[in-house]
Amino acid sequence: MAKLTVNDIDGRNKRVLMRVDYNVPIEEKDGQMVITDDTRIRETIPTLDVLINRGARIILAAHLGRPKGKREPSMSLRPVAVKLADMIARPVAFLDDCIGDKVENTANALKPGDILLLENVRYYAEEEANDPAFAEKLAKIADIYVNDAFGAAHRAHASTEAVARVVAKRGGPCVAGLLMERELKFLGEELQNPPRPFVVILGGAKVSDKIKVIDRLLDKADAILIGGAMAYTFKLAQGLKVGKSLAEPDKVNLAREALEKAKQRNVKFLLPVDNIVATPVPTAKLDKKGRPVMDLQNPRALSDPNIPDSEDGVDIGPATIKAYSEVIAGAKTILWNGPMGIFEDPRFAEGTFGVARAVADATQKNGAKSIIGGGDSVKALNTAKLGDKVTFMSTGGGASLEFLEGLELPGVAALADK
Ligand code: 3PG
Repeated sequence: MAKLTVNDIDGRNKRVLMRVDYNVPIEEKDGQMVITDDTRIRETIPTLDVLINRGARIILAAHLGRPKGKREPSMSLRPVAVKLADMIARPVAFLDDCIGDKVENTANALKPGDILLLENVRYYAEEEANDPAFAEKLAKIADIYVNDAFGAAHRAHASTEAVARVVAKRGGPCVAGLLMERELKFLGEELQNPPRPFVVILGGAKVSDKIKVIDRLLDKADAILIGGAMAYTFKLAQGLKVGKSLAEPDKVNLAREALEKAKQRNVKFLLPVDNIVATPVPTAKLDKKGRPVMDLQNPRALSDPNIPDSEDGVDIGPATIKAYSEVIAGAKTILWNGPMGIFEDPRFAEGTFGVARAVADATQKNGAKSIIGGGDSVKALNTAKLGDKVTFMSTGGGASLEFLEGLELPGVAALADK
């Protein structure tokens, strides 16, 4: 069911509490916190523009990281306020709290078009507990509630769920922002009856993360192309050897069922026909779990479907890139989630970048609609400078996956239907 949006409300002079997903990558450089990807901030600007033009008094609430109820300075949203002000060329006030008298007084003094960003809501443990009393406190400054945080909408937290219930109970409008509306349109409506052929590309580490999405899409897709480490679990299900590749032997049954279902439904289910492999050699460095960090040496393409015991599969090979690109070129609708290999290492990036080029070409040259399901695939497209060559890139990670699984997201369910 479509949701009411900021376009459906009269925000003039109203205090609008807008939940955004400003959970952006941020790192310390020379003593300064630097935002390394501002996409999630940029994508909220259309909603902000509507509210500014309508003379609303805007109060932004967000989380950053997982401070687990503690005031973790490295997870402060202060640098985000500076960034946002720079991006929209307007002042953005910042307060070092998200509830209490100071917040209420500042919010009440806002003038039409003013913007205030509140401190990380997760500095309070009550946020993740979806605590009703905390939601009441947040709601004190909300005549209207807007949720533009699609990326956090799979969380039933106080600022995404309970607060909307409080505002709605008092008769205040609870509506979607324009980013939320776009996410629901592309990941939802557009995939309900997609123009065919509908080609789904799935990668990433684990079959267990994607099995529900695979299951659902087997009802809709004409072809499913598998890459990433999850391909090795499928190979195990086919009785092939995967060497030292990352795989989930305990999920082989799930993989086998998916292969069987694909056959019954006449869905082309493609697995890599060749791989890039490398020899893992332990270094003196230890990872977080105390295991030696591996140096991946001697990378090469392997056309044998069985990977030798000493080798680790790290990317799809050139024949697979070619085969997948041909299927993608014939698509009218493409959904892509998850990289094909360890693309962060340039030696193992070609599979992911090759697929990215094929998706961009199908979109630009053949008019295919391409929808990128967030997370690492978005990062890969941006790294390949192809982000503007696809139809839509989701700002959600876990949220897009859950939505694609067909789950109702609590942050969406709490908003008013059209
Ligand atoms: C995300 O980055 O996926 C969202 O901001 C949600 O963050 P979380 O996984 O910490 O809830």
